[in-house]
Amino acid sequence: MTKKAAIISLGGSFLFSHPDALLPLKHALAKIPDFNFGIIVGGGELARKYIDFARGLGLTEEVLHRIGIMGTNINAFMISKYFNCGLYYGDPRLMKLKGKIIVSSGFKPGWTTDVCSAYASVSTGSRIIFNISKEKGVYTKDPETFKSAKLIEDIDTTKFMRMMTYGRFAGVNYIFDPMAARICRINGISVVVTNSISDIPRYLKGLRIKGTLIRPG
Ligand code: UTP
Repeated sequence: MTKKAAIISLGGSFLFSHPDALLPLKHALAKIPDFNFGIIVGGGELARKYIDFARGLGLTEEVLHRIGIMGTNINAFMISKYFNCGLYYGDPRLMKLKGKIIVSSGFKPGWTTDVCSAYASVSTGSRIIFNISKEKGVYTKDPETFKSAKLIEDIDTTKFMRMMTYGRFAGVNYIFDPMAARICRINGISVVVTNSISDIPRYLKGLRIKGTLIRPG
């Protein structure tokens, strides 16, 4: 039986704040036999600390992005060793899922690992990206600043992109990169933004998820 593909964008910020979620992730994926997974690992604190330090040295934005990519490479290497699976450092637009899990990371200066996840989704034929984030999902306002912020259960990519108004710079911290959302819209890919590993099997079984579903449209 040919297996279906799904992509996981494992946010670096989630990774470092939830080390105890890695084993449940490994077990959850093993229990989904009909899917192969690509996991694109973000840079998190490690990358941001390096980027901030290098920015202080007055290095160019291009160099800062490259430093960010190297941070994602280290994290992906670590996760591939922990999951005992393949590691791919190439162009996500050419990525193929050979084996149950392949781990990858950043690739091109100026992108983010969300963008890599969107391209990997296109190249592997995945219809879904699980964006594992430090937030429960997408909120109407920044939940850390506004108590009145409400979790959005369902939104389309066009409305979502309108909500994301920051610029693009090295280390920028989007809940899901609008450039990636645009690729998803064009290619009919949905995104689940969640901090709950159990949303992966839930979504794939057609059950209600705890996070936010961003639908192409
Ligand atoms: P990410 O933004 O992907 O890291 O990469 P992250 O930690 O996963 O972000 P969160 O936690 O989900 O928010 C960190 C930085 O590395 C550079 C960018 O500067 C990015 O902000 N980068 C990453 C690239 O330039 N190209 C890539 O393909 C990936």
